[in-house]
Amino acid sequence: MTKHFLSLRDIPNLREFIDDAVVAKTQEVTQKEWAGKSLALVFEKSSTRTRVSFQTAVFELGGQAVELNSQTSQLGRGEPLKDTARVLSGYCDGIMFRTSAHERIETMAQFSSVPVINGLTDWLHPCQLLADLMTVKEVKGSLEQKYCWLGDGNNMANSWINAAGLLGLDLSLACPEGYLPDMELVEQARVLGATISLTEDPKQAIASATVINTDVWASMGQEQEKEKRKKDFQGYCLDRDLLSSAESSAIVLHCLPAYRGLEISDDVIEGDASRVWKQAANRKHAQKHLLRWLISA
Ligand code: CP
Ligand code: NVA
Repeated sequence: MTKHFLSLRDIPNLREFIDDAVVAKTQEVTQKEWAGKSLALVFEKSSTRTRVSFQTAVFELGGQAVELNSQTSQLGRGEPLKDTARVLSGYCDGIMFRTSAHERIETMAQFSSVPVINGLTDWLHPCQLLADLMTVKEVKGSLEQKYCWLGDGNNMANSWINAAGLLGLDLSLACPEGYLPDMELVEQARVLGATISLTEDPKQAIASATVINTDVWASMGQEQEKEKRKKDFQGYCLDRDLLSSAESSAIVLHCLPAYRGLEISDDVIEGDASRVWKQAANRKHAQKHLLRWLISA
């Protein structure tokens, strides 16, 4: 059966996957599992990290990336996704898709005969979590941490909630009123064994945290809400004052792009606690492991 990666839940043992990805990163793996193979990268939204980390990952595995975006492919002129999925399946060995509504990636997977990878939807960003968890494992030595999420209950928050469920993590989220994450995911994660708390008070959520995450207040597609969100997220900037409530050895993660002075201050993202550059670099390593796994038996 074709493996897809639409959500973290598609990986049977996430803990083992992260452990193996960390080990593979440190080893000189010379096997070219993607030799002679092509990965389509289909973008309906902007990207820097996802684009380049997939291009370099597949290249290092011996394969090539073929990039399409909505402006220059027939997708922008209304060619149905289900047609695009079947056509790309005839040429390529995998399809990475970044889009808006999650249903679009489900359609892509339904009609594709090759693995489909979620490169971000409005609901989830699972590739980012693979890199984030790798970073925690490398820096802290263990995934057992006190995690904090500050800000919008967006695709990244939802992905952290999924990770918390699958790994039994302790996660405190601070989100302003009206910006809660998907509460169904929260309930499902709790049933799986996660400890999840929600508050509107960032100081409460960050208290004694060891891994702190934040993200933009206005995600791609929400640009017109930027000014309103700036007001609604007052008090949520991860600055030195807020960081002082965390554990002294806490690390700060941000999937990037970051807006200094909004969700994070310049001195925090450039400061000692920040691991954002390692986190960004880990996108390539995590996705190399994902690409190997997707085509393995
Ligand atoms: N973090 C992330 O997915 O970055 P890009 O939007 O640049 O791909
Ligand atoms: N929440 C952000 C993540 C960007 C990588 C967005 O969807 O724009």
